[in-house]
Amino acid sequence: MVEKQTDPGTRAAGSRIDEPTGTSTVGHSWDGIEELDTPMPRWWLLTFYACIVFALGYVIVYPAIPLFERATPGVIGWSSQGELADAIAAERTHQAPMRLALAQLPIEQLPGNPALLRAATRGGRSAFKVHCVQCHGSGAAGSKGYPNLNDDDWLWGGDLVSLETTLQHGIRHPGDDATRVSQMPAFGKDGILTPAQIGDVVAYVRTISKQAPASAQATRGAALFAENCAVCHGATGAGNRELGAPNLTDAIWLYGGDSASLTATIVNARGGVMPAWGRRLDPVTIKMLAAYVHSLGGGEAAPVVVAAAPPEAAHVER
Ligand code: HEC
Ligand code: HEC
Repeated sequence: MVEKQTDPGTRAAGSRIDEPTGTSTVGHSWDGIEELDTPMPRWWLLTFYACIVFALGYVIVYPAIPLFERATPGVIGWSSQGELADAIAAERTHQAPMRLALAQLPIEQLPGNPALLRAATRGGRSAFKVHCVQCHGSGAAGSKGYPNLNDDDWLWGGDLVSLETTLQHGIRHPGDDATRVSQMPAFGKDGILTPAQIGDVVAYVRTISKQAPASAQATRGAALFAENCAVCHGATGAGNRELGAPNLTDAIWLYGGDSASLTATIVNARGGVMPAWGRRLDPVTIKMLAAYVHSLGGGEAAPVVVAAAPPEAAHVER
């Protein structure tokens, strides 16, 4: 039952000193329970005032109040954007000697400078995350049509110089005169081989890749292979890096080694395109990327061929 209730908010006339606590009441009373006018604890008030002082100081010193264009700048002129820019500038300065050294060193001499090689590989790892993972995967393991860069199976070569060239000019990149080119004919679509002949050659490829035992069909395919395919893939099918023609005898497939995938490849031909990074990245970043890809596990020592050798001598048989 309400004994006495006054409008909350106005101090009622019934205000009195509460005997046990010595605190005055505000005059509100519900069922005989009266409200004491206890002051805020001192520690709480001090903390509260300290927060106000801190907030005022913060607003003066740091960017704080959002305006139309930007926030109030604060007297010391700090901003998180500025801090990032400083950090980037500091990192650039820090990296400058390394980038300069890398710019001047031909890539094949990189292994002779382990500290520089390490720095380049680190830089390449970061650049790979930005530019390459969308096609080659975050672990560079590739997927159908996009080669795995961790293994030692290379279309165009896995030494530093070959990698640098592949990255610089890309593969079948339209508009780059130095891009790596070669085109397997579409044997089915262009009517070079009949469907039955394609069946034979598929059987042969499955035999040399040790997926199927020798058969009469494969023997027929062998003759067709020698006539039509050996010029690029080599007499034994081991591939040719001059032409980016894959090794067909290993168990590593770019487009699949089952009969259906092989038939699709031979009927239509493929022709994967890798962008020419020389148009988008500076030469130092490309060297770093080549060093990183080289470090992934399939990196090869420099090829034994001399640059001036005629093309036949430069032919690298796997
Ligand atoms: C748009 C997709 C795409 C992107 C992005 C891409 N690649 Fe490729 N890359 C390919 C394809 C497709 C091939 C295979 C081309 C072929 O079939 O010959 C390839 C081939 C390669 C090869 C040759 C492998 C060999 O066996 O010779 C290297 C090395 C390589 N890429 C590295 C990179 C690096 C490093 C980057 C990042 C700077 C990158 N790629 C970004 C699609 C891509
Ligand atoms: C003019 C050169 C050339 C000729 C001739 C040629 N190929 Fe190819 N072949 C290539 C190239 C280059 C590729 C890689 C295509 C790519 O990377 O997109 C390839 C890819 C392949 C692949 C895919 C391998 C994989 O890992 O998925 C198969 C299979 C293949 N060729 C079989 C044949 C057969 C069989 C013939 C003969 C009927 C033949 N090729 C004739 C150049 C040639």
